[in-house]
Amino acid sequence: MTDERSNFNRRSFLKNAKVIIGGGAIGAAGIAIRPEMAQAAEAVKSLPKTVAQFRCPVCNKDFSNFAELKNHFKTEHPEHVEPVTTKLNINGEECEVLIEPHWTLQRTLQFKLGLTGAKQMCDRGACGSCTVIMDGRAILSCMTLAVECEGKSIQTIEGIAADPKWRPLIDSYCKWDAMQCGYCTPGFLVSAKALLDKKANPTEDDCKQALAGNICSCGTYPRHPTAIMEAAPIIAKGGN
Ligand code: FES
Ligand code: FES
Repeated sequence: MTDERSNFNRRSFLKNAKVIIGGGAIGAAGIAIRPEMAQAAEAVKSLPKTVAQFRCPVCNKDFSNFAELKNHFKTEHPEHVEPVTTKLNINGEECEVLIEPHWTLQRTLQFKLGLTGAKQMCDRGACGSCTVIMDGRAILSCMTLAVECEGKSIQTIEGIAADPKWRPLIDSYCKWDAMQCGYCTPGFLVSAKALLDKKANPTEDDCKQALAGNICSCGTYPRHPTAIMEAAPIIAKGGN
């Protein structure tokens, strides 16, 4: 007797449920992949070039410029730390944000720039979900103050997802089911990209070492090196 469930797997379930679309996938983390590359590109391009709204973070009153907001702070909220403006280069785009000086890069990406790929999970440098690349190095955005990032070049998963060169990596993650809930996946992909930038054809040990700081509660670990090593030669030839 044929067991109808014998050909049933999570990937085909998701595909039928339209979670996987056109050969690509949308991780539960909300990172758009393949048909949504345009969406990722849009997110990258639509960053605010300058601060448009000078809103007091204490009383929510709006001001027309930064000087007025600072004056307001001095008179109305002398006990609070004044907000600051910071210029950032995210995925090759210059942008400016108004934040409080203690804001992390992760918080700034999420709440000021709408880039939700760098996830806050532990918020203490232990899980890797918030990984981004800064000046070529994978870093934890929850442990990095946004004001420290001025003059640096930041790459997020949105920038990677929007670049066709990296599509094979994302496709390979989908093919090998290297994700379940998907919450950790952006962090893993960013770490994998940082590895492949340095080493075009990594070994399994290279992959394990590069991903050592990324935690996956769903236990997808064995599949990451497989996915990365399969994508590596395609990416080395320029991707597709
Ligand atoms: S949220 Fe940054 S390391 Fe966990
Ligand atoms: S896929 Fe769920 S936490 Fe990694």
